[in-house]
Amino acid sequence: MLTIIHHPLIEVKLSIMRDAKTKSKEFRESLDEIASLMSFEVFKDLTIHDEEEMYETPTGAKLHKKKLDYKIILAPILRAGVGMVDGVRNMIPTARIGHIGMYRDEKTLEPIEYYFKLPVVENPLVVVVDPMLATGGSACLAISAIKKRGYKNIRLMCLVGCKQGVDAVEKMHPDVPIFLAALDEKLNEKGYILPGLGDAGDRIFGTK
Ligand code: PRP
Ligand code: URA
Repeated sequence: MLTIIHHPLIEVKLSIMRDAKTKSKEFRESLDEIASLMSFEVFKDLTIHDEEEMYETPTGAKLHKKKLDYKIILAPILRAGVGMVDGVRNMIPTARIGHIGMYRDEKTLEPIEYYFKLPVVENPLVVVVDPMLATGGSACLAISAIKKRGYKNIRLMCLVGCKQGVDAVEKMHPDVPIFLAALDEKLNEKGYILPGLGDAGDRIFGTK
């Protein structure tokens, strides 16, 4: 299921990221902030429980501490996915982080896996994060790699996607909810999203 998260604050920040003149620092900060804002929607259905431990309010009332029923693993697809981790982790400080190394072959656009390490946690919710969902190849392969290791409860959180990428993930992984901040028009002949925001990894890390 696809959810596009519409919010004026997200749209303003996304327009900063789309601007080719935006420098790496502001690009990263905007991505961070959008990832935090998106978290409200991505995690809004999570259930919580009362802990045994109680605390007292300044008015003398006694209340139970609350805790999420889920253990969260954030799984950024390297490199660009790393740019979304802090924004989400600011909202969920207990989240643990895995890493999935993947790059697209520039000619074939096929994703190639080069690294995989997720924390071992019982019944976690694994959230794959990556700013770009283009052909969908990287996301599909990352989710398959996660499932192969026995993880079941998985969500995909991207900033900008396009129909081709969404269709690819929905076809291969219909059980994985997809969250986007924007669904753009199409891909160009080099597999870049239009209008998109260019090469997310290069803009985050200043490699070009
Ligand atoms: C980008 C992006 C995604 C992938 C999306 O990564 O961060 O992982 O491309 O494209 P796809 O949907 O067609 O697979 P890239 O391969 O450029 O690597 P990088 O993050 O190291 O720059
Ligand atoms: N990867 C990017 O970084 N940008 C795109 O537009 C497509 C894939």
